[in-house]
Amino acid sequence: MAVRVNQFAAWKQQGQTVAVLTAWDYMSGQMADQAGADMVLVGDSLAMVALGYDNTLPLTLDEMVHHAKAVRRGVKNALLAVDLPFLSFQIAEAEAMQAAGRLLKEAGAQAIKLEGGYPRMAATIQRLVEAGIPVVGHVGLTPQSVNQVGGFQKQGKSPEAADRILQEAIAIEKAGAFAIVLEHIPAKLARTITETLNITTIGIGAGQFCDAQVLVTADVLGLSDWQPPFAKRYANLRDQGIQAARAFCDEVRSRQFP
Ligand code: KIV
Ligand code: NA
Repeated sequence: MAVRVNQFAAWKQQGQTVAVLTAWDYMSGQMADQAGADMVLVGDSLAMVALGYDNTLPLTLDEMVHHAKAVRRGVKNALLAVDLPFLSFQIAEAEAMQAAGRLLKEAGAQAIKLEGGYPRMAATIQRLVEAGIPVVGHVGLTPQSVNQVGGFQKQGKSPEAADRILQEAIAIEKAGAFAIVLEHIPAKLARTITETLNITTIGIGAGQFCDAQVLVTADVLGLSDWQPPFAKRYANLRDQGIQAARAFCDEVRSRQFP
């Protein structure tokens, strides 16, 4: 049966861990969905993974809609969530509503995700939820703030920083989000947040105590040329792909193919 947002609360209650994978086009969406992921996220990491940018900032809403539409065609069972790109939701609530609306109306997203918490994003999340748009929050390392943070390093290491992230997570839950990504924070902090919140925590580089785990599918498949230290490769498709393509080139030149 196809996954719906209301199942996440039940899974948390039952202590059933949830598997989330990212996708950026039809084929990666199909692979994640057919692998049995509960949620497929069209993350703005596609700016790096599929478009070759150094960070996620250049991605436009139009580009996101384009990619999300392709993923939508490949995802039949998993819940489809899509990231709001940098500056598509921070300027004004009305713009956030319009951007999220495009992801639902044009791309068939069933939920949206936005980075950052407290206090301004909480108001935006509340408006989206009031309009019937399921929201996933995102705290800890928020890659859209790379210029402020100065890199992709672990967040929430000092007691003060940890408490700020916990308060953001609480504000996001109060605003009505049904899930929240915890990125690159200490496992102990992720555990505290997971025990404090009633909504599903989705960890990435946040230890083993989260309600769900997510990785970027390009990292899982070993397709990416760079991956964060907390990612795990389950295959080495980049090397295999280069080998296969080289075998074709060699066979063409030596007239073995066709
Ligand atoms: O963009 C992305 O892929 C993400 C996940 C890693 C949570 O935000
Ligand atoms: Na993202």
